[in-house]
Amino acid sequence: MKKLRVGILFGGRSGEHDVSLLSAASVFSAIDKNKYEVVPIGITKSGRWLTAADAEQMLQGSAPANSSLRAGDPEATPGAAVLANGESVVVPPEPACPGTGLVPFQTPDLRRASDRAINVDIIFPVLHGTFGEDGTIQGLLELADIAYVGAGVLGSAAGMDKDIMKSLFRAAGLPIVKHVTILRGDWEREPKKAWQTVEAKLKYPVFVKPANLGSSVGISKAHDRSELAPAINEAAKFDRKIVIEHGVGGKKQKAREIECSVLGNDRPEASVPGEIVPGKEFYDYTAKYLDTGSELLIPAKLGKAETRTVQRLAIAAFKAVDCSGLARVDFLMDPRSKKMYLNEINTMPGFTNISMYPKLWQASGISYSALIDRLIELGLERHAEKKKNQYQR
Ligand SMILES: Nc1ncnc2c1ncn2[C@@H]1O[C@H](COP(=O)(O)OP(=O)(O)O)[C@@H](O)[C@H]1O
Ligand SMILES: [Mg+2]
Repeated sequence: MKKLRVGILFGGRSGEHDVSLLSAASVFSAIDKNKYEVVPIGITKSGRWLTAADAEQMLQGSAPANSSLRAGDPEATPGAAVLANGESVVVPPEPACPGTGLVPFQTPDLRRASDRAINVDIIFPVLHGTFGEDGTIQGLLELADIAYVGAGVLGSAAGMDKDIMKSLFRAAGLPIVKHVTILRGDWEREPKKAWQTVEAKLKYPVFVKPANLGSSVGISKAHDRSELAPAINEAAKFDRKIVIEHGVGGKKQKAREIECSVLGNDRPEASVPGEIVPGKEFYDYTAKYLDTGSELLIPAKLGKAETRTVQRLAIAAFKAVDCSGLARVDFLMDPRSKKMYLNEINTMPGFTNISMYPKLWQASGISYSALIDRLIELGLERHAEKKKNQYQR
């Protein structure tokens, strides 16, 4: 039997490039090589696509500095820059060079183009953050009609944008903390009005975040008015939209951080919940990646009814942003009132074998390699489902 060819995309242009390398290395070592032919595809920090030996080198942490893959020009485009599935061929853009972009692969002899392309049956984009988890790579794969693991364009984009995500959660009747969203331009023009809006609606401490990012980058906790402007300035470096929200736990206590893994397409299921106990005042960048003081508790210390609530809300959140495949849904629990708020959904959560997402499934009876199988199945299923659509009358 012909093995399914799975392209694993890793690296990428986001701040989570290195996390992606770790996730992808775990996937490579656990994926069932009897079932799948695995094709590594690395994306450098500057956006170049590498395959074969170059990609493997990159996974080991030594990316070839200047392998020049050029998009757009078929003569200059080595097979490595081309992805194909049957008739469809896609040339990834090369953002570092002005004037290039996603150029349709133009050659009189398409057969030759696909000879040189990497043929894949499905792509597993093990990419976190911007350009990986935000719908952009998903759009590229949609254009090429290539099946892929995880959320589609809409689910990815909606799950990435904390402001839009909150609107969708609220529309679905899900509990979120009070928040205000301000635009960088308005902040720059009328800072006084912006902080008045914040103070009219929220009490300190507040959390200030760029709407689109991850890994806690650009996020700060403002304990009082004097800390608000610097916090907004910091977040405004990263996005034109800034989300400011009520700090769960208030002045004296920390929020409890509960996470739940969701798996499936139209009928998703939820894992046992887990809990993170940050070693710092909140789960900031250093607590996530550098500090070892943070603890993972699996399962989370919750009562039966609380567990069921978390699972129900996690599935509802997944549906609210139109997710598919996988997502990790994160909650903030008020330590006193025990009220549970949805914090965010991550459509491509950390995926090393010791990351929360797979560990929660392990605790729920699905091993890491079985999880990879299931995600590939779900990606193929969603692609087949989409194929049923008719695009013209
Ligand atoms: N409203 C809030 N109340 C209390 N803590 C928060 C709040 N928002 C964020 N945090 C803390 O900041 C961390 C990062 O925020 P989050 O919205 O999850 O951003 P990211 O997408 O970067 O993970 C959370 O894990 C939590 O520790
Ligand atoms: Mg988070």
